[in-house]
Amino acid sequence: MTADRSQQVRAMFARIAHRYDLMNRLMTGGLDLRWRREAIRACALSGRARVLDVGAGTGDLAVEALRQHPEALAVACDFTLPMMRQGRAQPGRQRIRWVGGDALRLPFPDECFDAAVSGFVVRNVADLHLAFREQARVVRPGGQVVCLEAVRPPDRWWTPLYRLYFHRLLPLVGALVAGDFAAYTYLPQSVAGFVRLEDLAETMRQAGLVVEATRTFVLGTVALVIGRKPPRPHPSGNQNRSAGVPSPT
Ligand SMILES: C[S@@+](CC[C@H](N)C(=O)[O-])C[C@H]1O[C@@H](n2cnc3c(N)ncnc32)[C@H](O)[C@@H]1O
Repeated sequence: MTADRSQQVRAMFARIAHRYDLMNRLMTGGLDLRWRREAIRACALSGRARVLDVGAGTGDLAVEALRQHPEALAVACDFTLPMMRQGRAQPGRQRIRWVGGDALRLPFPDECFDAAVSGFVVRNVADLHLAFREQARVVRPGGQVVCLEAVRPPDRWWTPLYRLYFHRLLPLVGALVAGDFAAYTYLPQSVAGFVRLEDLAETMRQAGLVVEATRTFVLGTVALVIGRKPPRPHPSGNQNRSAGVPSPT
């Protein structure tokens, strides 16, 4: 993928921003809300935790973090401003800190978050390894890096049905509801060209994370990979989990 491709991705999300949330609910029958709840639970946040929603779009994960932890600081970062504008206009999302930025060059200092979470983002980035290295960089030692993503499912007897829905029906729904056939053709194509769950987990390991658990939803089509940045070794053997965490803003 090139910078050109990044621009195409940005332009595409800018086009569909106004219908993005509605399409998510329709496509998944509302199940995506449950996956997001699970993703935020996997971040193991405590009261005043600082959580970064990478490629936040309209901020669905950030707002879920605030719902579960009203005292938390939730930062939503995305490079498509119209997506964030759509999110910011929604009730309850004013408390999110919205920051324009690239997932491959996060505009934050090292180790300033307790957790980084991404939802349906890394499939779109130009460099998957770099995306996880960046998330690992901005999270404190011992903090979580959690990835929710659509992956290539295992081949099963129902695979033709999945393909029929995802590759044929979905673009038509996208054309009708969002007025954008191309964007909802890109979605199944980007999943088909993406990795399987095991490779996603392996990429996170290569970025220096410990993969603590993986989960799948809807017949293995959606994956949740729960990673942790290894704690910094301490001479006494104790870990101070929150020391030295600077403000991200
Ligand atoms: C499918 S949407 C997901 C939005 C949101 N995370 C969610 O769960 O609904 C993908 C988002 O990732 C953003 N994105 C893709 N590549 C990015 C990058 N390199 N840097 C920042 N944002 C990126 C897009 O702008 C878009 O808003």
